Amino acid sequence: MEKGPSQRAEGFTESVIREMTRLCQAYSAINLAQGFPDFDPPDRVKSAASRAIRQGYNQYSTTHGVPRLRQAIAHKMSTYNHVPCNADDNVTVTCGTTEGMIASLLALLDPAEEVVIFEPFYENYGPDSILSGAKCKYVPLEEPGFKIEEEKLKEAFSRKTKAVIINTPHNPTGRVFTRHELELIRDLCTDYDAFAITDEIYEHILYDDRKHISIASLDGMDNRTITISGFSKTYSATGWRVGYVIAPKKLTLAVRKVHDFLTVCAPTPLQEACITALKLPLSYYRDLRTLYDKSRKLLLQTLENASFICTVPEGAYYVWTDITRTGFKDDRKIAEHLIKKIGVGAVPGSSFYHLPSKGRLKLRFSFSKMPHTIEMAASRLSKFKRANQRS
Ligand SMILES: Cc1ncc(COP(=O)(O)O)c(C=O)c1O
Repeated sequence: MEKGPSQRAEGFTESVIREMTRLCQAYSAINLAQGFPDFDPPDRVKSAASRAIRQGYNQYSTTHGVPRLRQAIAHKMSTYNHVPCNADDNVTVTCGTTEGMIASLLALLDPAEEVVIFEPFYENYGPDSILSGAKCKYVPLEEPGFKIEEEKLKEAFSRKTKAVIINTPHNPTGRVFTRHELELIRDLCTDYDAFAITDEIYEHILYDDRKHISIASLDGMDNRTITISGFSKTYSATGWRVGYVIAPKKLTLAVRKVHDFLTVCAPTPLQEACITALKLPLSYYRDLRTLYDKSRKLLLQTLENASFICTVPEGAYYVWTDITRTGFKDDRKIAEHLIKKIGVGAVPGSSFYHLPSKGRLKLRFSFSKMPHTIEMAASRLSKFKRANQRS
């Protein structure tokens, strides 16, 4: 037999989100598929990056991160997240949250150990679990509301559970888990001696006065939680690839070793600029929320007018929709139709489920764009409704 790729690599498909971006580029569609802004990081942060390059920060940094950046992250974790954190014992700077997640899973899990994952889930967690050899136990978040149901969560936990993956604010549903929901997870982690791995990349993007709660801040959790976040979404710098992992001291060395052999270090001059980002005033975060709130309301109105049934996001920058009323019965067909004929990109819902059939009637739109971009998308989507009314 001809030799080829590993079974591991054959075990998952290419990213549907990134595939939709390529399709948007090919058809000049407005990309509401992939979650990245159509505007830049603040000028002050961009200037810090170019200054760092000119001042000679161009070689490998300490593998687990520039010390001053780790100190700034530790300070932010203690003050914003209320999680005790020390730059030397707990912080590893990674190439984005993406690398932070796979490095954490590889550092924590042995093949066949069980990981609990809420479904629908951000598509990377599927391949991440395959790469780490973990066995996934899925807990459905059901409509309406996509709340964590205690009985379903209890069913998924057992003595074999090594970790649960949490993502709040949640991609794709926009849920912001409540203290009560996080306490349910905390109690099960304690009962079964399991770890929480929490992806908090949207921690600053919240609506209607909601507050972010890090599970590591709950009593008894700091020693059994790996918190992962990054600079991509909060500072509109998805191409910089800077993120971080906050782990208990007993796990940090393992995370750092995996990170070192995966990527050595995150880009040095951009780590320097991230120190400046962490010094931005509180008004920066308020303004970001106000901007996204405007885009959120515009997109919700647009999609409802176009016959999509929408879940109102509490955080992050996605609208999770049901396509039942549009006349389409297949998420991929409608996504391709929208890109090719209407000029607006979205992500087929099936890519957020381990069984694609569960997401056939779902579509995710991102509003990580300026309000005027959403207005342009709205004008294009009005053609979609008219076409559907005719058919
Ligand atoms: C939940 C979640 N985690 C991680 C990422 C990727 O983050 P990063 O750019 O820091 O790798 C995304 C990007 O869309 C996301 O939605």
